Amino acid sequence: MKALLCRQHGMPDTLVYEEIEDPAPQAGEVVVDVRAAGVNFPDVLIIQNKYQAKPALPFSPGAEFSGVVSAVGAGVTDRKIGDRVIGSVTYGAFAEKVKLAAARTIPMPDGLDFERGAAFLLTYGTSYHALVDRGVLTAGETLLVLGAAGGVGLAAIEIGKALGARVIAAASSAEKLQVCREHGADEFIDYSSEDLRERLRAITGGRGPDVIYDPVGGSYAEPAFRSIAWRGRYLVIGFANGEIPKLPLNLALLKGASIVGVFWGQYTQLEPAGFLADVNRMFEWIAEGKLNPHISARFALADGARALEHLLARRATGKVIVLP
Ligand SMILES: NC(=O)c1ccc[n+]([C@@H]2O[C@H](COP(=O)([O-])OP(=O)(O)OC[C@H]3O[C@@H](n4cnc5c(N)ncnc54)[C@H](OP(=O)(O)O)[C@@H]3O)[C@@H](O)[C@H]2O)c1
Repeated sequence: MKALLCRQHGMPDTLVYEEIEDPAPQAGEVVVDVRAAGVNFPDVLIIQNKYQAKPALPFSPGAEFSGVVSAVGAGVTDRKIGDRVIGSVTYGAFAEKVKLAAARTIPMPDGLDFERGAAFLLTYGTSYHALVDRGVLTAGETLLVLGAAGGVGLAAIEIGKALGARVIAAASSAEKLQVCREHGADEFIDYSSEDLRERLRAITGGRGPDVIYDPVGGSYAEPAFRSIAWRGRYLVIGFANGEIPKLPLNLALLKGASIVGVFWGQYTQLEPAGFLADVNRMFEWIAEGKLNPHISARFALADGARALEHLLARRATGKVIVLP
């Protein structure tokens, strides 16, 4: 099979597209012929050896996919050749075939096609776990989403709206905020030209957002946290900006606020029943038209490096996918 390989750590241009041996399933595993793979920010971190997981070289990046089961290992009874599935792995999906535990695959629902199926699990799974489980966002509360037009950000907008919250989208351009509007956000802040704190004060009548969803970090974190409402929850999602912010803890005291860590990959491993319940609820929302994965760019697998560069250049809105 063909695969995009990380043979040495570095930027996307160091990836190579090569023929490698087809994977064979072990007991309990399946092999899936990948139809589409979703691109996520952790892919650009893992190839630079900057991610929590540090796979041995060489490896293929790529953490989520849709496809068709093409081989099943011994003992697998609930998946068969020909099944259409989606799934997530830590790495390995930027290839024509991916091997994983059968239990980590999920039958693809009618409401998704292969492209949208590859653009769903990781971003919506993260944002659902963050907002419902970790942030306990309830109807009528106000949610601020930073990096709101990105992969996890846009999913957070839609899930926030499905939960009945008022959603403030913050992003770096009018074009990105327009995408947020199309996906249901109520209020908009262009943090490249507007003062985040002043705008939050104006939009919330001085009260501040109840829940802040932060996948960006860097210089937005502190002004956002200073603006949080009494009993607010600040969700630490990631640091796309590259800088891990340091927050003065007195701010948490003054607002009776919580700083809440979110690590979806670990959650799916440690609490698989909770993860599957989340996915099933979101499949209902897809059927009801409440969730609508947005794909803004498609790249051939051979050009997968360009897909990662697209994310790094801050050009993506919603999801970028790679097609073998
Ligand atoms: N905790 C978890 O379980 C979990 C799961 C998945 C992802 N994540 C993390 O969530 C973050 C976002 O992932 P994603 O896949 O949604 O990425 P994405 O689609 O690239 O979105 C990231 C957003 O961050 C903003 N940004 C600010 N500075 C940036 C920079 N220097 N380079 C790139 N983007 C920058 C951009 O929005 P503006 O241009 O509007 O500022 C961009 O839309 C990453 O840090 C990722 O590691 C965490």
